[in-house]
Amino acid sequence: MNSVLNDLDWDFKDKNTKDPIHRIHPYPAKFIPDIPSQLIDALGVKNNIILDPFCGSGTTLKVAQDKGYQSIGVDLNPIACLISEVKTSKIDESLLLVCDDVLSKAINLSVDIDSVANIPNLNHWFKKEVQLNILQLREAINAYKDETHLYHPLRVALSSILVKVSNQDSDTRYAAVEKNIKPGAVFSMFRSTCKVLASSLNSEATLPSSKIINKDILTTTPEDIGEKVGLVITSPPYPNAYEYWLYHKYRMFWLGFDPLHVKSKEIGARAHFFKKNSHTPEHFYHQMKGTLSLINDVLLPKGYGAFVVGRSKIHGEIVDNAALIERAAKELEFKVVGKFNRAMNSHRKSFNLSHANIKEETIVVIQK
Ligand SMILES: C[S@@+](CC[C@H](N)C(=O)[O-])C[C@H]1O[C@@H](n2cnc3c(N)ncnc32)[C@H](O)[C@@H]1O
Repeated sequence: MNSVLNDLDWDFKDKNTKDPIHRIHPYPAKFIPDIPSQLIDALGVKNNIILDPFCGSGTTLKVAQDKGYQSIGVDLNPIACLISEVKTSKIDESLLLVCDDVLSKAINLSVDIDSVANIPNLNHWFKKEVQLNILQLREAINAYKDETHLYHPLRVALSSILVKVSNQDSDTRYAAVEKNIKPGAVFSMFRSTCKVLASSLNSEATLPSSKIINKDILTTTPEDIGEKVGLVITSPPYPNAYEYWLYHKYRMFWLGFDPLHVKSKEIGARAHFFKKNSHTPEHFYHQMKGTLSLINDVLLPKGYGAFVVGRSKIHGEIVDNAALIERAAKELEFKVVGKFNRAMNSHRKSFNLSHANIKEETIVVIQK
């Protein structure tokens, strides 16, 4: 297996999948779809089901679906789960009509601005008129709460525009700037996003199913997964690198989720490395061992798992996360059947990661 994997090109310099569905919502450190695609082709799927225990924006799940496989994804972040859910669902033809209905109701809705007074620093990040319009949209979307096939895409559309209409410079730069947001921009951007969504989602009559579980992987049980799986493909979060909770903090506040809960459970979040009793690489080793133990329970015998992971820098020391995953896998009696490095495209670096020095990542392939 090692030689088969080694002969493949993992840098994908000339390839760039253009499927717009993978761009319906910003997400940090997402896979280029070629990675799960090539892994599925090279490793095969023992039964019909692929698991991604850190599914993020659902790239693995969507690629699996396109190839005719069922999938199961787990992620702690509710925004990740919402995007994954929508990406793997069939588009409802009425989405654009419903979007217009939402807009016509939102514009005339009187809302109580005090209902969002609990969101910290709201006035710093959002102009008053913008706050009002977001609230109007949110209320109008809520009327579709019981129709999840419409409610979820509408929420993704709202979530995806929130940084653009805020005072935040960009998705990757946390500075408030004057952006000259025009009156009504919230509504017009929402409509444009619904349009893109409606044209990118799948309209095929039947799609292989995808089950999304919004949970901390370390408390997820085989019963939650619910089935045996034939292949695992994932890129875990790793220490002191990306901060998914922070990236989506205001999205979570606006959509009624709790970002501070996500922060407290997020593997690798920088906050855990800058406090008393701060986390160490050993924490990451145990977190990966916990994840691998769950994989051991649900993966079919001889099934493969692929982990795509970069290095970390913690308090000046480089940490080889791939080696920690390898160690945990061997301890659980998985065979390590392949390990190779790939250069990371600079466009994938969604944050300034100079503190983490991430230029290369490793693909570790294990077998049960
Ligand atoms: C590298 S990203 C995955 C990106 C994904 N491959 C994609 O293409 O979008 C890692 C993910 O791990 C999630 N995560 C962090 N801690 C977690 C935990 N304790 N349980 C489950 N997921 C967690 C983060 O929310 C993030 O979405």
